[in-house]
Amino acid sequence: MSKQILILPGDGIGPEIVAEARKVLEKVNRLMGLDLTFSEALLGGCATDVAGKPLPDETLEKARSSDAILMGSVGGPKWDKIERSLRPEQGLLQLRSGLELFANLRPALLYPQLAAASSLKPEIVSGLDIMIVRELTGGIYFGKPRGIHTLENGEREGFNTYRYAEHEIKRIGRVAFEMAQKRNKKLCSVDKANVLEVTVLWREVMSELASDYPDVELSHMYVDNAAMQLVRAPKQFDVIVTGNMFGDILSDAAAMLTGSIGMLPSASLNGSGLGLYEPCHGSAPDIAGQGIANPLATILSAAMMLRYSLACPEAAERIERAVGDVLDSGMRTADIYSEGCRKVSTAEMGDAVVAALA
Ligand code: IPM
Ligand code: MG
Repeated sequence: MSKQILILPGDGIGPEIVAEARKVLEKVNRLMGLDLTFSEALLGGCATDVAGKPLPDETLEKARSSDAILMGSVGGPKWDKIERSLRPEQGLLQLRSGLELFANLRPALLYPQLAAASSLKPEIVSGLDIMIVRELTGGIYFGKPRGIHTLENGEREGFNTYRYAEHEIKRIGRVAFEMAQKRNKKLCSVDKANVLEVTVLWREVMSELASDYPDVELSHMYVDNAAMQLVRAPKQFDVIVTGNMFGDILSDAAAMLTGSIGMLPSASLNGSGLGLYEPCHGSAPDIAGQGIANPLATILSAAMMLRYSLACPEAAERIERAVGDVLDSGMRTADIYSEGCRKVSTAEMGDAVVAALA
């Protein structure tokens, strides 16, 4: 039966990078007879412009009836000043929450060819292979009450609520333990249990779960230390599990270890295998429309989609190998360029991956 892929190009560099990932998917589709079909919908600022809100009902409906979703990026200065609920990021958050995509997988893998592009010394990052498992539909991003109100003295006060129910911690914990079982069997749970009660509970629940996974070595780390350890000795980590906001922050730091945030894909999964796949980087409005953005994070997200939602691991590996081959050939977009390499455009990079698939 044909598999429906919904494509959400979004804003900024989104349309440019998604176009390259689509080329790659169409090629593996033809080469391997995967029976994928594609449709597109609006999400983000472009949706607010056309449909009056960042997640139009039609997009959510289409997303619900798809087998997998590939997204570019949302946001940009054009929409920074409009009412909060209409901002592009809200569309993405509503989509994650509407589809209950609670498990966000963010692999930080250093391609050996890019060791020189990392801001850290090659010996610190070479061989780096970390998987960050970020809770995505709870925590302070969604906790209520929230808002900005005016106090009796006339001063404004902003507030958010950091809360996790036990079942939310358990389900992300299980994803992380199972991920660790498939990898090097080391799981580090990151919290701020020295200050925040919600993460005292987080730590307790993770520790309770550990007895179901005796083959996994569980450790705990405070988030400030984890940020420091990520840049000091990142190879100590295998799988990291953490809440929504800490995961947002740590995954950007981890991305940079790999040379460029332009290399980092992600998967956001719900309990039934439906997934949203997107690069970890944003919409990069400063370089949008110039044809210089790195499409590899989106292409690698498409590979994750084939692996986690479409049960085509061979196709995923084929794309990942093709990316490796293209890097071997010395082609680089500006963000990962180093001396002696050949600087290429977004489309040239996409075409090179397509050619390397054959
Ligand atoms: C991410 C982004 C989003 C987040 C924004 C765009 C809402 O930073 O996917 O990491 O904070 O989750
Ligand atoms: Mg982020």
